[in-house]
Amino acid sequence: MGELGALKAELHTLQEKALAEFTKAENLNALQALRVSYLGKKGALTDVLKGVGKLPAAERPVIGKEVNAVKTALAEGLSACEGSLAVLEKQRRIQSERLDVSLSGRQSACGSLHPVQQGLDEITAIFSQMGFEIAQGPEVEDEFHNFDALNIPPEHPARAMHDTFFVKDTDDAAMLLRTHTSPVQIRTMKRLLEEEHALPLAVVAPGRVYRCDYDVTHSPMFHQVEVFKVGEDISLAHLKGVLQHFLSTYFEKDVSLRLRPHYFPFTEPSAEVDVGCVFCAGKGCRICKGSGWLEVLGSGMVHPNVLKSVGIDSTVYSGFAFGLGVERLVMLKHSIPDLRLFFENDVRFLRRMGA
Ligand code: DAH
Repeated sequence: MGELGALKAELHTLQEKALAEFTKAENLNALQALRVSYLGKKGALTDVLKGVGKLPAAERPVIGKEVNAVKTALAEGLSACEGSLAVLEKQRRIQSERLDVSLSGRQSACGSLHPVQQGLDEITAIFSQMGFEIAQGPEVEDEFHNFDALNIPPEHPARAMHDTFFVKDTDDAAMLLRTHTSPVQIRTMKRLLEEEHALPLAVVAPGRVYRCDYDVTHSPMFHQVEVFKVGEDISLAHLKGVLQHFLSTYFEKDVSLRLRPHYFPFTEPSAEVDVGCVFCAGKGCRICKGSGWLEVLGSGMVHPNVLKSVGIDSTVYSGFAFGLGVERLVMLKHSIPDLRLFFENDVRFLRRMGA
């Protein structure tokens, strides 16, 4: 076989091999690489063409024609494969991007306010809507505001009942974690009078309080809301009216109310307030221990000594005050059996109480 024959044969093998490889290309990128390796400037076909120079001039057009025919065949082969690969790739993409619109959506985890915070907000809002100003005081208090100014002098037995956490003993005043929100009465009355706020003063003071106590109904940290109003001619009737409105709004029903005489050093007279049991409507049940009543808060008329401690003339002005435990009210409203549930942060409980 002469040079021409050998070249022709070489071209033929190249074409066969190329076409076979084209059909095996797995994707368009691989096909493109094959195009370059056969038809590119440094490709296999160029290599074959280098042999053309050795041919006699008369034979060159013959091989030129052959080369063109191979080029055409390869180009056709490429475009056929390209077409089917493009279809295949589109199908693959559609498969991989397939959406099942019938699948249910992903649940997004949504947080909510802690039940105690919800209770605090709810209670504070009721008073705020009645025109009471919201006030706050420090949780680390001094003995003067927590006790003395509230008519609880150093040797008073009520001090022992408060199970106080003392923080620091300085020379003249012991610091403590406030045992109730009543010291906010003192601080707020003083501040508002200094700001020349006109009387009456009507204040609601929510916040944390601390007592060294722990069982089903007690936690060393809990929340209270203190409410008071001081002005001219403020009477027990105002106290009862405010309580009636508050408790009926909070429990979302017309509750009956009972004021039971009691003793608090900072009020005179003092009363504990009961509502008709919200579970049995007063018939008597396990929750109200058969009495038909639930004790909900402590109240009274502000003691003259308390008014005196902030410089208010008790012969001209009077006031009522009360303090309530937030956890207790939330427990009653939502039938929660154990106060400690509020502080364990078990999500099953928190979810049940979720907003
Ligand atoms: N400070 C009292 C306590 O924590 C609650 C209380 C009772 C507050 C009577 C008052 C009140 O303002 O008048 O036990």
